Amino acid sequence: MAFTVAIDGPAAAGKGTVARAVSERFGFAHLDTGLLYRATGRQTLDGTDPVEAARELSADALDADDLRTPEVAQAASRVAAIPEVRAALVDFQRAFARRSGGAVLDGRDIGTVICPEADVKLFVTANDDVRARRRLTELLGKGHDTDYDTVLADLRARDARDSARAAAPLKPADDAVTLDTTRLGIDEAVAAAIAEVERVLAKQV
Ligand code: C5P
Repeated sequence: MAFTVAIDGPAAAGKGTVARAVSERFGFAHLDTGLLYRATGRQTLDGTDPVEAARELSADALDADDLRTPEVAQAASRVAAIPEVRAALVDFQRAFARRSGGAVLDGRDIGTVICPEADVKLFVTANDDVRARRRLTELLGKGHDTDYDTVLADLRARDARDSARAAAPLKPADDAVTLDTTRLGIDEAVAAAIAEVERVLAKQV
C-alpha cells in the first residue's frame, strides 16, 4: 500500500529530524529531497551546467560527504530557482512517494507541488533565531569555522530566495498541519507528527 507523508518547511526548522522519526516509527522509506538540490548545486561549483547536472543526477551523488556545507546550501538554493532543474527532479520524487510500504519526503514543495495528494502534510517551522542557533550548533559540531551572524544571514538569504522564487516557492499547503518548533521541543514535534500519521492511518482501515 502506498502512503505518503509530505514534510515541508524552511532551513533548520527540524523537518529532517521529524521525517526520520516518522519513517523509523512506521517503517516508511525516507527521502531528504534537499539532497537532490544540494547534489545538483554541488556540481555547479565545479562549472557543470545546472540543468545538465540535474538531468544526469545519479543516486551515488546523493551520498557525497560534502553536501552539508553552507556553500553547497547556497548553491542548492540558487539552482532550485531554475524551473528546468526542478522539472528534471520531479519524476524521481513522485515515484519515490508512491512506492509500496509508505514514504516520507521532506523539502520545500512536497505538499504543494510534488505530492499534492499526500495522505499527511506537515509544515515544520521555527523562528529565525532558534533555527540559526540549531544550525550553528550543528555546523560547529562538524568542525566548520562560523558564527551566529553568518549562519543567520545564510538562512535568511536562502529562505528569501526559496520563498520568492516563481517555481514551487516555499509555502505551506492549504491543508498542511503546522508544527512550530520555536517553543515546541523536537520531541514534542515528533510526537505530534506521529499522532497525525496514526490518526490518518486509523481512518484508512
Ligand atoms: O533542505 P535543505 O536545506 O537541504 O535544502 C537545500 C536547498 O534545496 C533549499 O534551500 C532549497 O532551495 C532547495 N530545495 C527545494 N525544494 C525541495 C528541497 C530543497 O527547492 N523540495
